Amino acid sequence: MTKKNWKILGIETSCDESAVAVYASETGLLAHEIYSQIALHAPYGGVVPELASRDHIRMALPLLRGLLDGLQLALTDLSGVAYTAGPGLVGALLVGASLGHSLAYALGIPAMAVHHMEGHLLAPMLEHDPPDFPFVALLVSGGHTQLVAVQGVGQYRLLGESLDDAAGEAFDKTAKLLGLPYPGGPALAQLAQQGDAQRFVFPRPMTDRPGLDFSFSGLKTFALTTLQNHGADPQTRADIAVAFEIAVVETLAIKCRRALEQTGSKRLVIAGGVGANQRLRQRLTQLTAQMHARVYYPRPQFCTDNAAMIAYAGCQRLMAGQHQPLGFNVKARWPMQELPRL
Ligand code: KG4
Ligand code: ZN
Repeated sequence: MTKKNWKILGIETSCDESAVAVYASETGLLAHEIYSQIALHAPYGGVVPELASRDHIRMALPLLRGLLDGLQLALTDLSGVAYTAGPGLVGALLVGASLGHSLAYALGIPAMAVHHMEGHLLAPMLEHDPPDFPFVALLVSGGHTQLVAVQGVGQYRLLGESLDDAAGEAFDKTAKLLGLPYPGGPALAQLAQQGDAQRFVFPRPMTDRPGLDFSFSGLKTFALTTLQNHGADPQTRADIAVAFEIAVVETLAIKCRRALEQTGSKRLVIAGGVGANQRLRQRLTQLTAQMHARVYYPRPQFCTDNAAMIAYAGCQRLMAGQHQPLGFNVKARWPMQELPRL
């Protein structure tokens, strides 16, 4: 008997990217589309929630039609719908949730409310050489910095997290201080390439004491003071950018080493937008090689927000018989530890 090839539509609208994808349980990712709202929010220097919601409404259906037409699939070919239900901007989440839920209801197929960070965490599973369970995951996005011991889907033990700014948030805020446009993380990383890495040394917060928590807000203040003391000429700004980037990367590397040592794991997964950072990827590749361990990243495009990861996570849960009942809700905050195991 051949196995059923579940085709799951994924919908992601938690922040400033509208994205759709179809993942098939037997044949893998069929296609995905991402529409970025960067141009919309850039004049404001950050995401404006109401504009984000309205733009998701504008783009969701055209994106979905384009995706299915490109695949020559009909809505009736779908076996389930997975949508991001949180954490994120409530108005933005509601667009994907109401679309996903109504589609599932109309088609008579199950809907799955997916946790955005679980989507990020499982994104490396979309690559050709995915990690086996268990592993340690470093989740580094705009809203979260967490080290998680992962035993399986839905089996998450929090090892440490940021007590203030997330790593991505620290990148974005420091980029703003340096006069860089939104989104700050990639812009800062680009400016850092012109910087002299020897000129300034920024602190590695909370690495001089045991534990796996993080604190990144002091680095932004350090950047501001350095800027005030040394001027804001282009070379100084680049030198500050590289010193900041190295401090974040080294801090994350120190905590990843500790987490691997503490758990005895030989597998490290990096996920979330900051996982697209090349210096971080190089440093963790080097670190894991020294530790005879391995690091797994999604391709850079699947580090930042996308619907492929939502379709994948939803597919795993739907195939296990889980689904969201008729009533649905979205959550601005949602601890990943509340998720049921498979
Ligand atoms: O995962 P993500 O796309 O959205 C959230 O779930 O938050 O992460 C976005 C964050 C932003 O803070 C952005 O500045 C950061 O990831 N980011 C980067 C890079 N690309 C994205 N930070 C540093 N270097 C990058 N190359
Ligand atoms: Zn994200």
